[in-house]
Amino acid sequence: MSLATRPLAPTVPNDLEAFFVPFTPNRAFKKNPRLIARAKDMHYITLDGRKVIDGSAGMWCCNAGHNRDPIVTAIQQQAAELDYPPAFQFSHPKAFELASRIAALAPGDLDHVFFCNSGSEAVDTALKVALAYNNVRGEASRVRLIGRERGYHGVGFGGISVGGIVANRKMFGTALAGVDHLPHTYNREQQAFTKGEPEWGAHLADELDRLVALHDASTIGAVIVEPMAGSTGVLPPPKGYLQRLRQICDKHGILLIFDEVITGFGRLGTAFAAERYGVIPDMITFAKGVTSGTVPMAGVVMRKGIYDTFMRGPEHVIELFHGYTYSAHPLACAAGIATLDVYRDEKLFERAAALEDKWADAAMSLKGTPGVLDIRTLGLVAAIDMASKPDAVGKRAYDAMEKGFHEHGLLFRITGDTIALSPPLIISENEIGEIFDKVGKVIRQVN
Ligand SMILES: Cc1ncc(COP(=O)(O)O)c(C=O)c1O
Repeated sequence: MSLATRPLAPTVPNDLEAFFVPFTPNRAFKKNPRLIARAKDMHYITLDGRKVIDGSAGMWCCNAGHNRDPIVTAIQQQAAELDYPPAFQFSHPKAFELASRIAALAPGDLDHVFFCNSGSEAVDTALKVALAYNNVRGEASRVRLIGRERGYHGVGFGGISVGGIVANRKMFGTALAGVDHLPHTYNREQQAFTKGEPEWGAHLADELDRLVALHDASTIGAVIVEPMAGSTGVLPPPKGYLQRLRQICDKHGILLIFDEVITGFGRLGTAFAAERYGVIPDMITFAKGVTSGTVPMAGVVMRKGIYDTFMRGPEHVIELFHGYTYSAHPLACAAGIATLDVYRDEKLFERAAALEDKWADAAMSLKGTPGVLDIRTLGLVAAIDMASKPDAVGKRAYDAMEKGFHEHGLLFRITGDTIALSPPLIISENEIGEIFDKVGKVIRQVN
């Protein structure tokens, strides 16, 4: 169909059956689907033309806002210029340009980038690089991987193994062997209604020493944590926790990986959370915000010493037997470069930092709303825990999401009975007010 004859607004599909919608209750969704036709800046537009304010940057991705002209143009031009070169043994200039730009944003000597297409692939890549690096440096017995309870690292076998979400693991066999978990850092009694990093909980990093005592450091290859656990309901790191984890890893020669798929690209007011906390991990995984959600793209930034360790042996031999057909795809690279330009030119990371207090105050204004058990905020992120219905955990939040979308023109993410908010970083102060006003109405409605 030519552009001239293409309908401006997509029509309602006449059959919802074939598509198995991911991480979604399919039967409930298909009875009353939440379909989105277009988007611009802070808003989605539904098929029937209603404006819906985006309270979650899609799924923590669209940090620059939706359908931004410079990014759209870059993608269009790239599609017309170079569709696809082989990703192995060949490459294209924008892959190197984007890698340099990301390396420049990452702190310390985190300056080499391996590209993939999703957060799950980035996590698998980081875990494999850790194992391979330990091999190459003569520490091949370091094969154990340590994750954390309530961690989310995507849905690959590596990610669900180090992840700590029961539902994501229990149906899928035994996953990777030799994985252990740190305790999560949330304690409502100690931390309820905290803005930013809670005072209580740094000591939980010492559990790594316990795991070392149990397994011996010589068997442990890497620890992976989200600096702020996102998908299990926004758990900001306790003050000093990440610093302590770094110290313990250093003491035992264990690699530390920060999964910054959510926290990367300005969400916490800095390019990466590593910068906010002054902690340099050995690897950072990123995805989502790197292209502001426009084209799938992800990767791992690793420290110079890791990259250099692989650069040995005959020069015609592949140094790391790993990669994806679409690693550094030209469309994704073009989108990534244009996105980083928008972040820089509009100072969006700084904007997130400047808005953090106002955002936190607006979120906390919902304290005392019936049924609200806790509110947590960090950067431009907030979570609101609602009391679960005794017979139906998750139902209250699901109803809130439905009513938010269909009746209040508001989109947000849910996990259990928690509402999670993480708007595009272009959000205005008025829009912050609008979002929490609508969230308050929705919560009262489903109480
Ligand atoms: C911290 C973290 N890691 C990994 C992933 C997986 O990313 P993807 O869904 O792109 O595979 C996510 C997704 O939300 C995430 O939040």
